[in-house]
Amino acid sequence: MAEVAIVADADEAGELVAESIVSLLRSKPDLVLGLATGSTPLSSYRALAHRIRHERIDVRGVRGFALDEYVGLPAGHPQSYRSVISREVVEPLGLTPDLVRVPNGDLRTLRMAGSEYEAAISAAGGVDLQILGIGRSGHIGFNEPGSSLASLTRVKTLTESTRSDNARFFDSLDEVPMHCITQGIGTILRARHLVLLAFGEAKARAIAAAVEGPVSASQPGSAIQLHPHTTVVVDEAAASLLAHADYYRYAWASRAALPIEQAG
Ligand code: PGA
Repeated sequence: MAEVAIVADADEAGELVAESIVSLLRSKPDLVLGLATGSTPLSSYRALAHRIRHERIDVRGVRGFALDEYVGLPAGHPQSYRSVISREVVEPLGLTPDLVRVPNGDLRTLRMAGSEYEAAISAAGGVDLQILGIGRSGHIGFNEPGSSLASLTRVKTLTESTRSDNARFFDSLDEVPMHCITQGIGTILRARHLVLLAFGEAKARAIAAAVEGPVSASQPGSAIQLHPHTTVVVDEAAASLLAHADYYRYAWASRAALPIEQAG
């Protein structure tokens, strides 16, 4: 079972994620982070930036791989995930820009972009900790319902619900690309630790399906059940449809009694 932490708010979640990353960094300065975009991980990046600054942690060797990118946005478009990752992750954390990769959504080179990205992740030794959000559609990365649980990085068509959720970042819905290139579910499952974050009532259904629903390509988030080390960090609203919330609270509160690798 995934461990489920039900926290007060996004700030508390951010501190938990930052603590996990900082403790990994102590033994692995060239840590490989899997980076999500969207609103959900922002408190984690903020908390991590704060820890790095105040504890003077050397992150020059940290490597990163973003989950996904839009297809066909012009280079330098402020909403391309290349730009978003630079603005929200690389700059505030002080990472080395060349060590942080984002899938290449350039139409001219799209055919090879998926296999090149997979090769780059393998060459880095795989992702140590993958931060994930979840869409109302249940997607992780941009793996919309129906995505193969074994899929690797490739081009996908965005659902209308994802395009309308993301329209807030663009001037109009028409400007939101129809296609994306995303790590596959199989790619995500290769990371050594998955941390799935969700806040707010709008995510409650997707979280319940991910944590407690049947494992199904129709609910891509449910693939986390196939992973031996997943931590789900949710606020009360996102946890509100979990049938076993009381047990998760009890298990989380009592995990301090076990050596960390035994808890779960
Ligand atoms: P959000 O998006 O963090 O902006 O809610 C999550 C997702 O679509 O995966």
